Amino acid sequence: MNFAPKILNWYREHQRNLPWRETRDPYKVWLSEIILQQTRVAQGMPYYLRFVEAFPTVYDLADAPEEQVLKLWQGLGYYSRARNLHTTAKMVVEDFNGEFPNTYKELKSLKGVGDYTASAIASFCFDIPEPVVDGNVYRVLSRYFGVDTPINSTQGIKYFKELAREVMDPANIRDYNQGVMEFGAVQCAPKKPYCLLCPLQESCVALQENKVDRLPVKLNK
Ligand code: ADE
Ligand code: SF4
Repeated sequence: MNFAPKILNWYREHQRNLPWRETRDPYKVWLSEIILQQTRVAQGMPYYLRFVEAFPTVYDLADAPEEQVLKLWQGLGYYSRARNLHTTAKMVVEDFNGEFPNTYKELKSLKGVGDYTASAIASFCFDIPEPVVDGNVYRVLSRYFGVDTPINSTQGIKYFKELAREVMDPANIRDYNQGVMEFGAVQCAPKKPYCLLCPLQESCVALQENKVDRLPVKLNK
């Protein structure tokens, strides 16, 4: 069995029930992804729940006074993210009639929405076969396929996105994308991956070649 079906099997057994996984509303998915940038799930969760309660739709967020948005954001840091969040909500209301766009390209045109977030919304909400590549995905792919190209080099960013596209399961992109990220967060963790209990161990290059702790490679810039 190759990579994608193993990831899907693992995910179907081990996934955590997270509130943003129970919706296909692109507004809520976008909100969760912006909050979870540089923030752990346990820390981001209460913020997500408070935001969704205070602003159930993109209109509520767009119409809110900036102080209220910044106040709810308090403790998450990076206030530019909160300001971008508010700006983007207004942009969706004004330029897209209050509906999040449903193509990768239009999603990426939104402020604060880069390749990762556009791919996440496109795949989680619209089943568009676009692979997500975040820190978890870099770690899993670099280890499993034994790739030592630095993940923060121009070449590496391009290489890993292409590899991610080759190995994804386009027919199950929502679960597959969530699954690789979850696998990286829970099983193939940065410091202590559970290689001895890993369903991918037989075909994992890093494990076979004894270099799990040396991957992924990251350049000091
Ligand atoms: N971190 C960032 N995005 C996430 C997601 N969709 N599920 C779990 N953790 C995440
Ligand atoms: Fe990650 Fe270890 Fe599994 Fe390889 S065997 S995918 S390094 S947890």
